Amino acid sequence: MKTAEIRSKFLKFFESRGHTIVKSSSLVPANDPTLLFTNSGMVQFKDVFTGKDTRPYRRATTAQRSLRAGGKHNDLENVGYTARHHTFFEMLGNFSFGDYFKEDAIKFAWELLTTVYMLPKEKLWVTVYFEDDEAYGIWKDQVGVPPERIIRIGDNKGARYASDNFWQMADTGPCGPCSEIFYDHGPDVWGGPPGSPEEDGDRYIEIWNLVFMQFDRDKDGVLHPLPHPCVDTGMGLERISAVLQHVHSNYEIDLFQNLIKASARETGTTDLSNNSLKVIADHIRACSFMIVDGVIPGNEGRGYVLRRIIRRALRHGYKLGQTKPFFHKLVADLVKEMGEAYPELVEQQERVAAVLKLEEERFQTTLEKGMKILEADLEGLKKGDVLDGQTVFTLYDTYGFPFDLTADICRERGVEVDEKGFEAAMDRQREMARASGKFKMNQNLTYNGQNTDFQGYVTLETEATVLAIYHEGTEVQEAAEGQDVVIVLDQTPFYAESGGQVGDAGALTGFGNAVQVYDTQKITANVFGHYGTVSLGHIKVGDVVQAHVNVARRTSITRNHSATHLMHKALRQVLGSHVQQKGSLVDAEKTRFDFSHDAPVTPAQIAEVEAIVNAEILANTEVQAQMMAFDDAVAGGAMALFGEKYGDVVRVLDIGFSRELCGGVHVKRTGDIGLFKIVSEGGIASGIRRVEAVTGTNALNWLRNLNESVVQTAALFKAAPADLFERAKLAQEQTRQLEKELAQTKDKLASAMAAELVAQAQVVKGTKLLVTKLDGVDTKFLREIVPQLKDKLLSGVVVVATVVDGKVSVAVGVSADKTTAVKAGELVGFISEKVGGKGGGRPDMAMGGGTQPEALDAALAAVPAWVEGKL
Ligand code: ALA
Repeated sequence: MKTAEIRSKFLKFFESRGHTIVKSSSLVPANDPTLLFTNSGMVQFKDVFTGKDTRPYRRATTAQRSLRAGGKHNDLENVGYTARHHTFFEMLGNFSFGDYFKEDAIKFAWELLTTVYMLPKEKLWVTVYFEDDEAYGIWKDQVGVPPERIIRIGDNKGARYASDNFWQMADTGPCGPCSEIFYDHGPDVWGGPPGSPEEDGDRYIEIWNLVFMQFDRDKDGVLHPLPHPCVDTGMGLERISAVLQHVHSNYEIDLFQNLIKASARETGTTDLSNNSLKVIADHIRACSFMIVDGVIPGNEGRGYVLRRIIRRALRHGYKLGQTKPFFHKLVADLVKEMGEAYPELVEQQERVAAVLKLEEERFQTTLEKGMKILEADLEGLKKGDVLDGQTVFTLYDTYGFPFDLTADICRERGVEVDEKGFEAAMDRQREMARASGKFKMNQNLTYNGQNTDFQGYVTLETEATVLAIYHEGTEVQEAAEGQDVVIVLDQTPFYAESGGQVGDAGALTGFGNAVQVYDTQKITANVFGHYGTVSLGHIKVGDVVQAHVNVARRTSITRNHSATHLMHKALRQVLGSHVQQKGSLVDAEKTRFDFSHDAPVTPAQIAEVEAIVNAEILANTEVQAQMMAFDDAVAGGAMALFGEKYGDVVRVLDIGFSRELCGGVHVKRTGDIGLFKIVSEGGIASGIRRVEAVTGTNALNWLRNLNESVVQTAALFKAAPADLFERAKLAQEQTRQLEKELAQTKDKLASAMAAELVAQAQVVKGTKLLVTKLDGVDTKFLREIVPQLKDKLLSGVVVVATVVDGKVSVAVGVSADKTTAVKAGELVGFISEKVGGKGGGRPDMAMGGGTQPEALDAALAAVPAWVEGKL
């Protein structure tokens, strides 16, 4: 039975038993920062299990694309070394949301395996969680599995519920006891039943896991009962295919065999059993689907996992002798195998190949250099030796060798890697980066007093008391007029730079004193430093001042910040949900927004984004900010950035159709933004685009400037602005036409001149020789006229010279029949030397010249004798 048929039989079986076939979700879990990748079929139903979300069905079945590379479930390091590990795999599953429970789940599984897939009953073994008498009883009494083939598995991993038979998605989330079904490959294969000391052998292979979801595990490890008991099952498609195709390793199934052949083709490998081919075949699946789902190779989070997998595949290609980009060529083969089941792969085929190719090209040279260094370091080491952490770190830091890539290479040689030493080197690097960052940020100010109470969400002016003053980096009690200071207040309306929004500027004014504040930066997370200059009198600790934010500047900033949220959402709508914020800078002039997307944003897409944002502005809805628990915010659809640290309680901001977690200051209503215009778009790194946009009066000014230049240009053309484009196009055509005519005229002129000149040719030893000096022409003209003269002479030698701006130019042409005797390059060299310069070229055409025009006549006069000597 082919893999494709096994997949569809599974879905059909459950459909006929009341399950809705649900499409596989993305490998990137929607709005779930607790999980790096979708690692099983239940992920898209996580909220349905916990009761936070409902669906129109209570039974579902899926073939879910899954990835176990990073996070709680990570198999990356095992791929290529075992018969059954993959990074990417498909999980077949059936789900009950408060509908059927253990009894039906067990019976359905048994029926499918034994009557549809026709597996012999005596080859199937099962396990149950040691306390689960109910499941045990169902297997024994209702299904009829003999008790010696039902095994109870306890908490065998050192803690309560830490068991092979207790499944959990991640450190938090739905979980429950499970019952697993094993297939016995027979006594020819070494290994023992589950729970036995030989269980790691390959004889008894787990094929299906039935999880009885009963609990939701919280951050503190406490299990809360789910509102309804649910069922979540998972059967690896590749494993069951291996069983049904009577092969031992997953890599021998039809789907993998074709990918392995393709990998062999691209790497020029003849031995199809080479393990590196398995690695490449596995990795092309993982990488392609990650890219389909919006991940782009990068240096953090999901992007880094993708980069590691690509680099590991390339390294294995390199090992097989393929040093050129090859990996991206396998996308077409993957489409052949999996395109029918996953139309999104077909749609994005070209994009996927392009992203991979770019990453391959980037890594190619560093791979080569890095490998040489690593080879040299490994040279002196034997099995059991340790490669030191600093070397591993240098490979990582300078050559982009992820730790696991180095570890993988070492593993092949039986060399150990000093992981602790590597971590220590990483820490040192981080510490250095932090220290230098801190210095720039806040001059290393030390402050131990009370926190700043930020009032800036509600007001732009407050009364405040000066708590601390710094001058040139040290704390002072008092500062005088003209001195630069950093001031800490007990409360302030000034926003300190964070989350991409710049700090506020403004003034602190007291009785007879004032400080102009040009920036506000955090000294610590909750202490704001007002950076400024004392502009009047003295300021001292304890003074009471009025703190006023520069209102016009702040208003522009808030407009730009709120517009950024709307733009982020609109970009996702227009370009796709792979768009993720990679950086932003919001100041009074503009908003600059960097995001993941691997093609230029077209003018039409920009226009669409602008239209969407401006429609939200015109709707003029009220902006809402509320504090809520992080989990509730994410459940409510707030956009959270993966890998970003958020507190338990977060500020959720609703602006028009957008909901984001954000601590920044914003407009009161979307209409306050006024007008939104994108003014630039470009790429800043592989897969990262940057747009800049303006709002409010800045947008108006931008348009006014544009309008002015259009009006001025139109006046120049004596056209109405609306006709400007047509008029400019016409003018351009006219210029092109004139240029063409001018060139033709020059050509004619050269030709006429050539006709006159040939008459002046002399004959030297039966060869025609023309030597002439032309006035008022340039070097380019010489180059044009020489071929014409040659044509007219039919056979002979042509020398033309001119003087422009005190410099001599000479061109020499020799007809083909004369080049054996007279070489144009030599002749031009002879003349050039006489005029204080150099020259050279082909035997039939050469150019030269010099800086002594006064010597030109004599030089030309010497030509006939030189030519004669050659003939
Ligand atoms: N979620 C369960 C697993 O992945 C079925 O094993």
